[in-house]
Amino acid sequence: MENTENKIKITLDGKTIYARKGSTIVEAARENGIYIPTLCHFEGADPKACCRICTVKINNRFMTSCTTPVSEGMEIENNTEEINDLRKSIVELLFVSGNHFCPTCEKSGNCELQALAYRFKMLVPRFPFSFPRKEVDASNPKIVKEQNRCILCKRCIKTIRDEEGRHYFAYKNRGQHLEVVLDPVLGADMPDELAKKAMENCPTGSILYKGKGFEQPIGTRKYDNQPIGSEIENQS
Ligand code: SF4
Ligand code: FES
Repeated sequence: MENTENKIKITLDGKTIYARKGSTIVEAARENGIYIPTLCHFEGADPKACCRICTVKINNRFMTSCTTPVSEGMEIENNTEEINDLRKSIVELLFVSGNHFCPTCEKSGNCELQALAYRFKMLVPRFPFSFPRKEVDASNPKIVKEQNRCILCKRCIKTIRDEEGRHYFAYKNRGQHLEVVLDPVLGADMPDELAKKAMENCPTGSILYKGKGFEQPIGTRKYDNQPIGSEIENQS
């Protein structure tokens, strides 16, 4: 029987669950085998609510579940038609505001954005494509930074740092010219493992590790045979 001591009782889509005090809704859901999609939220980095894909409804208000802590008696709507359509529209907006040609991308099958598009059954986005022409920066010896696929989630900025805590990636410019770039000086000596981690932590194909391609064949990649979120939903 579940030990509910020191836990908070909440309701998620009508189901009563028990959550750790101090946990966010996303964490509480995941610890109870319920998937709430996330993109900018990443383990080991403070949530900043950039993407809003984790939106849920509480007391008729839309809230980001990666930044909202649980509280006693909270009633949360998560897996509803309205919320899933909102999440689908966010995925569509991310697709039309960049250039995502999945069949040619090394991250295909390991890409969270692509996997979310499948999960929400995106076919043709309801918004017009903006066809931006952004830079592909291949000047770094280890990494290709493909700006057309960057969704500005900040995961690379927050998680890729050297031993002294210096950030390899940073924001550059503002407004519609905002982009995430690799520091050319620090990046010049980027250790191999960190370059691979940067590619892994990026939810799209915006950061690619140079020199190796298609080591893991298409068809055997993370989301090729199981939808994103099923690893949480299928845990016993
Ligand atoms: S490069 Fe990847 S991890 Fe970094 S902000 Fe862009 S999409 Fe996010
Ligand atoms: S995952 Fe919560 S706002 Fe991006």
